[in-house]
Amino acid sequence: MKHLLSLEALSGADMRAILTGTTDFKRNRAMHTRPLAGQTWALIFSKSSTRTRVSFEVGLRELGASVLFLNAGDIQLGRGEPIKDTARVLGRMIHGAVIRTFAQADVVEFARYSGIPTVNALTDDEHPCQILTDIFTFEEKRGERIEGKTVTFVGDAACNVPVSWLWAAARLGFTLRLAAPKAYWPDAAIVKRAAADSPVPWDGYSADQVVERLPIGAGMLELLTDVNFAARQADLLYTDVWVSMGKEAESAQRLKDLTGYQINGDLVKLAKSNALVMHCLPAYRGKEIDEETVEAHADTIFTEAENRLHTQKSIVNWMVS
Ligand code: CP
Ligand code: NVA
Repeated sequence: MKHLLSLEALSGADMRAILTGTTDFKRNRAMHTRPLAGQTWALIFSKSSTRTRVSFEVGLRELGASVLFLNAGDIQLGRGEPIKDTARVLGRMIHGAVIRTFAQADVVEFARYSGIPTVNALTDDEHPCQILTDIFTFEEKRGERIEGKTVTFVGDAACNVPVSWLWAAARLGFTLRLAAPKAYWPDAAIVKRAAADSPVPWDGYSADQVVERLPIGAGMLELLTDVNFAARQADLLYTDVWVSMGKEAESAQRLKDLTGYQINGDLVKLAKSNALVMHCLPAYRGKEIDEETVEAHADTIFTEAENRLHTQKSIVNWMVS
């Protein structure tokens, strides 16, 4: 049985299979077969969502399934029923699950105990559906593959979105530059796992370090504190919110720490002339990106949002094939 719980656990070949399928699903939106006919899938969400919820509800229906939306706070899970019991109950009634929650361990446990295909629709650790969509969008807009390219992420480089980018870089083979204050670089344990098969052993960040460059799988990881340097010659400038869901108590500190790690017109000028600007959304103008840059790149950013639908249909089709 296939799940999509993280990009860390996905091979480059499986990423490519999903991306290839996405092209077909986008081209033939109305005409595709219905591999989920007669099935019921549930969305179990503990965090807010616009894009992920709607794109999965619509996409699963287009694949033939009936869909239940379960706000985790409305079911007994919210009153403390263990994940493994919820999973065993739902596994006897439904055919697949899409989960948005806090702990990565919870989606792993749900997949294990439910015995049904399970998708990570965002955890604190990863947002795999988003980054597969972003890669599809990059390749669709640029007309070339992402392998060998440079993706620069600006902002909170420790959160779920850049971490999923990191695993995509390692599996597919491109350079990921993360521009952030050092306290917002990814957890050293993640970098260590990604660099495990590197010819040069990596033992963790050293004190006072402001730049790190190391091979990760088929790709390269560059960590920088200098946002302008990170943008130079980039093929894609990408950002995400400074305050992820669950981090609200740290808002004031984060807004202070991350000031300057913004995609704006001056930063875009440093990237390649054909560089794309993308944002997973929601976008907070004046924080991680400015209003003018969102509007100048709105076609790419909202195509990226639309592509969640096509990519997730391909993900689910890949899981059940
Ligand atoms: N990008 C994204 O996952 O958006 P939502 O939080 O609206 O689902
Ligand atoms: N890093 C963000 C992504 C939102 C889609 C969050 O977790 O809130």
